[in-house]
Amino acid sequence: MDRKESDAYLRLDSARLPQHIAIIMDGNGRWARRRHLPRIAGHRAGVAAVRSTVETAARIGIPALTLYAFSEENWKKRPKSEVDFLMRLLCQYLKAEIKTLNGNNIRLRYIGRQHELPDIVQREMAEASEATAANTGMILTLALNYSARSEIVDAFRALAEAASRNGGLSHLEVTEQSISENLYTRDLPDPDLVVRTSGEMRLSNFLLWQLAYAEIYVTQTLWPDFRGLQLLEGIEEYQKRERRYGGLAHNSAADHAQSRSHAQSKH
Ligand code: FPP
Repeated sequence: MDRKESDAYLRLDSARLPQHIAIIMDGNGRWARRRHLPRIAGHRAGVAAVRSTVETAARIGIPALTLYAFSEENWKKRPKSEVDFLMRLLCQYLKAEIKTLNGNNIRLRYIGRQHELPDIVQREMAEASEATAANTGMILTLALNYSARSEIVDAFRALAEAASRNGGLSHLEVTEQSISENLYTRDLPDPDLVVRTSGEMRLSNFLLWQLAYAEIYVTQTLWPDFRGLQLLEGIEEYQKRERRYGGLAHNSAADHAQSRSHAQSKH
């Protein structure tokens, strides 16, 4: 950690760190365009941001970090040359990073329809996750070929298939818990904080079920310029928020109780 990062870290309450942070990495293309570079140069520069963010999150003790690297829509709607480049970049990252991930005790996992990715990419992915599976620290999840709606569809299909194996529709159990237990993220807590870079105010089909109560932090920083410091700034902002989960604000709940007892004492 450099000086700025350690100052930012000291401003945080280490007892109230988010247990799961999800990040929508956005703005690689704009970063490149501003420099009159091809879009792929933005993606390449984005890898340094991934590295720094992952390392800082692990070092400060964040239990889970999920990065939206590649959506199902990206895969279908971007030119083949860009998709191929992203696949190569991912394979390079997976190969190069195993050592650092192990050095930081990080377990690497994935969410998304992996089986639709090229075989070679699937092999690299399996190798990297197996090489880090025995670690006990932060769980780093890469969302690859991910779509939240597809994830929910897959969860319902799994529930329906389980019911049909168990004797039919009367065994179909649809509850919040059964759905959560069949999502790709079943082993993770819901994110407390979702970060989106480059100023866009959208969830873009990312973890729609799991983000129900997450705090949203949008920064103007483009992804290739994002570092551990910007992550710490996002956590600082998160710690200033009051999470209500549909209830009343702390003060207004107290005011409410006070005004009720006041009203009762008058009658
Ligand atoms: C969004 O920028 C970024 C992506 C679609 C790809 C994310 C990939 C990386 C950060 C690098 C590789 C990742 C790993 C995990 C090694 P955009 O292209 O949509 O930017 P724009 O909105 O400015 O065009």
